[in-house]
Amino acid sequence: MSVSIKSAKEIALMREAGRLLEITHNELQKAIKPGISTWEIDRLGEQIIRSFGCIPNFLHYNGYPASICVSVNDEVVHGIPSKHRILQEGDIVSLDAGLIYKGFHSDAARTHAVGKVSPEAQKLMDVTKQSFFEGIKYAKAGCHLHEISAAIGNYARSFGYGVVEDLVGHGIGRALHEDPQIPNFPQKRRGIRLMPGMTLAIEPMINIGRCDVEWLDDDWTVVTEDGSLSAHYENTVLITDGEPEILTLSE
Ligand code: MF3
Ligand code: CO
Repeated sequence: MSVSIKSAKEIALMREAGRLLEITHNELQKAIKPGISTWEIDRLGEQIIRSFGCIPNFLHYNGYPASICVSVNDEVVHGIPSKHRILQEGDIVSLDAGLIYKGFHSDAARTHAVGKVSPEAQKLMDVTKQSFFEGIKYAKAGCHLHEISAAIGNYARSFGYGVVEDLVGHGIGRALHEDPQIPNFPQKRRGIRLMPGMTLAIEPMINIGRCDVEWLDDDWTVVTEDGSLSAHYENTVLITDGEPEILTLSE
């Protein structure tokens, strides 16, 4: 395993890749309403990314057929946009997007409410987002990678939720997926020591019910085995000498 350390120049490009992706997500959020199809969300996302002169990095990745992953309710991740999938009041929808700016990748996901959602769905979304922030308390030089994993998983599990184990976060940079893999639950070993200049896509995927997932026949869409709701939250994060810098979120 080799984890790349980005130079100051590379970090500047990663920062811009992240900033443009944050704008993309903010624009997409405005479009989330009952009646929109997941295909329309994908079209809009690709248009926004290309308007920056960037490339949607998911498009054709291992044959993935769209630019944005749109996953509704019990779909965990990698939902394929479709003209026939119309968002309904009360759904929760996760949007996972990424782009390439001057050779550098960014990757981020948000889960949104469609109209008014149940208190249970809202809590799942809130806890999933917070689990990311619990994790990045350890996204610091000198900490070990799996301290992030444990903090995410222990927090989400304390609510009785299922933490997806079959999919992980990842390093990111000149490639969408670089070393290391970043599980979202406690590990037996402590993992690599974090160093300034590492860039990581940290992405908890949390189910209301059990952790188990399965793949649909389209070979992409990951769903919860028990049919329970699932949420996803992800940012691209830079390890520094001090606090982590979230490249896809400026607050
Ligand atoms: N954010 C996703 C990930 O890190 C990217 C999806 S890959 C795609 O795995 F092929 F589905 F686009
Ligand atoms: Co990712």
